Amino acid sequence: MTTNQLAFFGTGRTAPPATVGVEVRAAGDLSAPERQLLSQAHLDDIAPIEAWKVTGTNKQLSYSTHGVFRFFGKFPPPIARHLITEFTERGDWVLDPMMGSGTTAVEALDMGRNVVVRDVSPLSTLLCRVKTTHVAETDSRRAFDRVAKLVGSPATTPLPTPIGLRNAAHWFLPETIASLGRIRAAIEPESDTPVRELLLTAFTSTVRRVSKATTQQGRLFLDVEKAKPDAWPTFCERFDKYASAVAALPRERKGTQLQIEQLDARSKGSTSRRFRLAITHPPYFNNYKYSSVNSLELAWLGVAHKEVRADEIREAFKIGKPEKVTEYVEDLASAVAAISEQLEEGGVLALMMGDTIIRESYIDVTRQLLQAIEQAGARLRLDRVVLRVPQYTEASWVASQRRTGDKVGVTLNDFILLFTKPKRSK
Ligand SMILES: C[S@@+](CC[C@H](N)C(=O)[O-])C[C@H]1O[C@@H](n2cnc3c(N)ncnc32)[C@H](O)[C@@H]1O
Repeated sequence: MTTNQLAFFGTGRTAPPATVGVEVRAAGDLSAPERQLLSQAHLDDIAPIEAWKVTGTNKQLSYSTHGVFRFFGKFPPPIARHLITEFTERGDWVLDPMMGSGTTAVEALDMGRNVVVRDVSPLSTLLCRVKTTHVAETDSRRAFDRVAKLVGSPATTPLPTPIGLRNAAHWFLPETIASLGRIRAAIEPESDTPVRELLLTAFTSTVRRVSKATTQQGRLFLDVEKAKPDAWPTFCERFDKYASAVAALPRERKGTQLQIEQLDARSKGSTSRRFRLAITHPPYFNNYKYSSVNSLELAWLGVAHKEVRADEIREAFKIGKPEKVTEYVEDLASAVAAISEQLEEGGVLALMMGDTIIRESYIDVTRQLLQAIEQAGARLRLDRVVLRVPQYTEASWVASQRRTGDKVGVTLNDFILLFTKPKRSK
């Protein structure tokens, strides 16, 4: 395949391959180190325990549109699928107020559920719209050809440049800035919104790959050698892949509804709707600050990352100060209180989060949040504590620190807390 021609669009598939799923073990089947993890976190004796392990390779986990954009800190899609299967029926409403790349929305729609997703970042709302919207092959091919023609002609107006970066030259070669600017300018005139957003997502996904920043890590480090002066071949390759994935989505949603909002999870949104299931996977304490991790992409979307930062949960990324956990817990407790109000009676909140070790000192973030929830009198009952056998998140975190697991100084244990909103007694 040449880089400026679209590949044949296969029929694709939206359902996960048979090897992908979640293996569940009951408390009695946990290993001694797993028990130790739970006991260290002070989570071993407060509710029934399970361990969940996601099966399938990274490639297999990229079924449907899950491979669109590399979103650092995304959770494995089978986790959402498992929760949706266990706690909802077809036609129920699901909420994810910190959607990230929209994994919950893709799964919920595929399973015939209605879904509301929110995030403070406009990158997230863009990604989620693209990952849930069918675009016919003929439409994306036409748009791509038009963009290719414009990129190949002399520019007549000043080219767009990144917004809100202190020093764009630190992260991009001057030739790359010009090359990205040409593609960005060529996308602008597209009038069909889903097609334009598909092009923008391929463009956004190109940004980090051609920059001077490392691509394997969430955190931005310089790796000047990998910078690419010409962004066009990478854009073509991304566009090919994403156009193929969205062409395989169903043309119509067959009665299921999707609402995507740019909103702080601590607010309740405008809808009076009540949800059967809320899934939330907040930033981890001292792990990623999403507005920073995605600052290059946001800059090329025309959004200063500091504006997004102002609404984010205070997660102390990079500072590594244990005392900052209080602010983090406060923010998360407010988000949980807002979610709890939006649940229907008998509805379930699945909260995925982790603990941290900073300079050999264990910080029981999860336990502290549980105490804050209790003190705030939230109407939630903790029904189950799930230990998520760490694989993907931990591996990418260790990679992001450019050190080996034992030297990293910060480690993560993943938990999924399952709460129910009890019915009021009559
Ligand atoms: C761990 S990621 C979620 C990843 C998601 N589960 C996925 O599979 O892609 C956390 C998300 O929370 C968002 N976030 C941070 N603070 C927020 C807030 N106050 N309200 C809503 N979203 C927030 C970040 O922008 C980020 O996209």
